[in-house]
Amino acid sequence: MRPVRDSLLLLSRSTAVKRIVTTLPLSAGLVRSYVPGEDTEDAVRAVGELAADGIEATIDFLGEETVEPEQATATVQAYRTLLARLVAAGLADRAEVSVKLTAIGLRLEDGERVALENARSICRAAQRAGTTVTIDMEDHTTTDATLAIVQELRQDFPDTGAVLQAYLRRTEDDCRALAGPGIRVRLCKGAYDEPIEVAYTDPAEVDRSYVRCLKVLLKGEGYPMVATHDPRLVEIASALASRYGRAQGTYEFQMLYGIRPAEQRRLADAGERVRVYLPYGEEWYGYLMRRLAERPQNLSLFLTSLISK
Ligand code: FDA
Repeated sequence: MRPVRDSLLLLSRSTAVKRIVTTLPLSAGLVRSYVPGEDTEDAVRAVGELAADGIEATIDFLGEETVEPEQATATVQAYRTLLARLVAAGLADRAEVSVKLTAIGLRLEDGERVALENARSICRAAQRAGTTVTIDMEDHTTTDATLAIVQELRQDFPDTGAVLQAYLRRTEDDCRALAGPGIRVRLCKGAYDEPIEVAYTDPAEVDRSYVRCLKVLLKGEGYPMVATHDPRLVEIASALASRYGRAQGTYEFQMLYGIRPAEQRRLADAGERVRVYLPYGEEWYGYLMRRLAERPQNLSLFLTSLISK
């Protein structure tokens, strides 16, 4: 399966393939199963539906690798509009937002400064709405800049969350650095195509790293956000939380919209805090390709939807 995964991750960066694929109507079954819609209202509706099941959300306005300053500004505005709509709908206590720094300027000239200023603007809007921001983690070339920006943001907005990827060899050390009081850290396996010098590529090694990182975060004084659909890791996280005397609600489980929804509800019904990552918008191509890479079995569904177009 690895060559299929690597090819899909490569295609996720191809603008030519993107042009073809994005002519598919969003309602094409597969896209719709991972992305509830393109508009703010679609996102707000999905938050309401999750809330009815006792599940919270973190909303991502889709987009990444922005090379136009106007596009970065438009993304910031989209988050502001979204946060205002959540307040108006009475759902701001059920949802926070997730932000990719390359969507708000990290790749532009003077990118770190631009991304920091834009992220501040989103954090201010989130704070006014009474909710929080988590900064997504992208490929390893952005890790240092992303962690530095999160650290800056945390000076004024201490609730700003960071994301760490268990497949990176450096991550256990990053977990130790971010296990301090109150720090919100989402731990995921990692979704990009990374070289062996910086990342574990054997899935079993990634899982072992995930468990080591979980131990550091759950033993620590921060707020771990356990982002995985892997049944074994969910079980291990629950067992470690008990071992380290963590009450439910002092950590949370996170999953992606449309993946293992029954498990999301089972955990919530068992009293766990559960949050679903909810992407919306027109720029779903890169996100969809990463989801296909994680589960190449879905590729046949995807190809069928292309052919029947
Ligand atoms: P794994 O891929 O081993 O999957 C375990 C099981 O989950 C599979 O056997 C299958 O049952 C199910 N499953 C997984 N993916 C599926 C799919 N696409 N379709 C259907 N079923 C699927 N990554 C990143 O690099 N930066 C980030 O900021 C984030 N943010 C993030 C937030 C949240 C809330 C989650 C849950 C994940 C991320 N990720 C991420 C993605 C993450 O790195 C990883 O790629 C996916 O979560 C898949 O890894 P699992 O841990 O689920 O294990």
